[in-house]
Amino acid sequence: MTIKIIGTGSAVPEQVVTNDDLAKIVDTNDEWIRTRTGIEERRIASAGSGTSHMATEAAKKALAQAGISAKDLDIIIFATSTPDCCFPSGACEVQAAIGADKAVAFDISAACSGFIFALHTVHSFFKAGIYQTGLVIGADTLSKIIDWQDRSTCVLFGDGAGAAVVRAEEHGTLHMTMGSDGSKASALACTARTTDSFLTGKKPELGYMTMDGQEVFKFAVKTVPEAIRTVLSEGGTHIDEIKYFVLHQANYRIFESIAKRLKISMEKFPTNLERFGNTSGATIPILLDEMNREGKLERGDKIVLAGFGAGLTWGATLLEW
Ligand code: UT7
Repeated sequence: MTIKIIGTGSAVPEQVVTNDDLAKIVDTNDEWIRTRTGIEERRIASAGSGTSHMATEAAKKALAQAGISAKDLDIIIFATSTPDCCFPSGACEVQAAIGADKAVAFDISAACSGFIFALHTVHSFFKAGIYQTGLVIGADTLSKIIDWQDRSTCVLFGDGAGAAVVRAEEHGTLHMTMGSDGSKASALACTARTTDSFLTGKKPELGYMTMDGQEVFKFAVKTVPEAIRTVLSEGGTHIDEIKYFVLHQANYRIFESIAKRLKISMEKFPTNLERFGNTSGATIPILLDEMNREGKLERGDKIVLAGFGAGLTWGATLLEW
């Protein structure tokens, strides 16, 4: 039993923030950001347009493209590290907004690997014969947990959402790998926000993202090629059979290093980080949606998705479009 993606959708805020805009608030410049990351601009959500709002827009587009009703969905899994509420889950908010009354809905937290983890979880339900039709969402509003005084992180991220409608299929390819290493959690972290209780007497703390960029960089360029090799070997697929490697959009130099290690042309690595920056759990489904709508994917194409992020977590999927 495998998964077929039958519809994709994405949504990003209207507000464009360029590198020059950021140079007005922190000591940075367009040249540094472009050459070190490949990012030129990103989208930042305005008040009232949070994670679930973007996710709902992306979900509606994915359903419209799939040509199915929200009422046909059995399961919704929403990957996010920046939900609008502690509870209800973002998945339940989307479920209500699109009217998917029959679907079970819940969130998972795996940061930038979230969409891949969610896709694999839905696949497992399909394989167990429990569900047949699902909606997988990756959406984040990282702008609300960024320290806008910290130039080492604030230039990297953006807000956005991507979604895929998936269906269980008897035939086709899907091989997957996932991993976690909680011992390296401090390399990329954001503590929960707290108001504490009357007993602690502490002041509220606003958790902001902190990152050891070089540590994450080294982790990504080592782990992602290994994960890609694993799914190719399990799928009995030669690397040359892969049309595209759809990677988590974090840094262009990470793509170059991975391409070099795998000895593959950069042409097989589509990108959109120059326009959206790193949207965490949303990067892979937003890019997939763009490629799909541009007609770059044809039925039968073999592609590899691969992500990495806080946790630390990582994962790769070999799938047939
Ligand atoms: O989803 C996963 C998210 N995280 C990642 O993907 C992070 C992966 N890591 C990276 O992408 C890179 O490590 C960064 C882009 C974050 C940083 O690039 P780098 O080449 O590793 O730079 P660096 O941290 O070694 O910093 C080099 C210099 C430092 O100055 P000094 O000490 O050499 O004087 C930094 O203070 O660049 C400085 N710097 C900046 N300068 C201008 C750091 N951030 C900035 C900035 N503008 N925004």
